[in-house]
Amino acid sequence: MSEQGTAIVTGGSRGLGLKIVEHFAERGFRVVTCSRKPTSALDELRARFDIEWHSVDAASPTSRAEMANIITAAQPHLLINNIGSIAQGLFISEPQESLETVVATNYIAPMVFIQAAARSMVGNGIAGQIVNVSSINTIRGYRGVASYASAKAGIDGLVRPLARELGPFGIRINSVVPGYFDSDLTAVVTDDHRTQIRNRTPLGRLGTTDDVVGAINYLTSEPGTFITGQTLVIDGGITC
Ligand SMILES: NC(=O)c1ccc[n+]([C@@H]2O[C@H](COP(=O)([O-])OP(=O)(O)OC[C@H]3O[C@@H](n4cnc5c(N)ncnc54)[C@H](OP(=O)(O)O)[C@@H]3O)[C@@H](O)[C@H]2O)c1
Repeated sequence: MSEQGTAIVTGGSRGLGLKIVEHFAERGFRVVTCSRKPTSALDELRARFDIEWHSVDAASPTSRAEMANIITAAQPHLLINNIGSIAQGLFISEPQESLETVVATNYIAPMVFIQAAARSMVGNGIAGQIVNVSSINTIRGYRGVASYASAKAGIDGLVRPLARELGPFGIRINSVVPGYFDSDLTAVVTDDHRTQIRNRTPLGRLGTTDDVVGAINYLTSEPGTFITGQTLVIDGGITC
């Protein structure tokens, strides 16, 4: 086992998740990650570091339960709940099946993974940490992402009571709340819209995956050891 222990990073095949996997691998953690499909970028990282990948569909109850068992077996020190998916469109037109998939992927799955990780940490006496990747859609209203926003807000709602329940075991739980950054998830955003976001951002630029990884690093290393139950916004000030 690695000296640092094991970090579970969900959705580590690309985008922000891939950067988080790389970050914890470089910090010396053994990393266990999952996604529906592998990617060559993740394969390249796996050739350099101790990284285990599993095929998991967070929207499927069976697959979620398998991932929960993987988390239990891994005895993690860290869980980063990064999986996220959006169904773009106005709420009144969104089919019920889509509502259920968005809630299962962005809310039920992270909740199940937190429960598995927290049980393992408590059972094994590990003062571990949990970080959820939320979104500024939880604190400002934006059109076309209502189901996603409410599912992400659900996970943020879990952070405060769990900070109280898990704190006595030395376990910390927080959410990072990013604004826009470029990824496959946001590939539908037009250049005009990106310019609009940049112009509305007090710090005058778009966010990057490095900005979010920096916040996760802060929360999960020495300077963050007295922080729990918080939602840390990383958005250049756009929600001020
Ligand atoms: N991009 C932004 O502007 C932004 C802003 C705020 C918050 N966020 C949040 O940041 C996180 C990372 O987003 P990103 O932009 O990096 O997204 P991304 O590039 O689309 O990556 C999403 C990751 O999650 C996995 N995933 C998606 N649905 C899944 C499912 N049903 N089961 C298992 N894995 C699944 C994907 O792999 P597979 O598709 O192979 O499963 C991929 O590894 C998400 O939680 C997102 O909501 C993003």
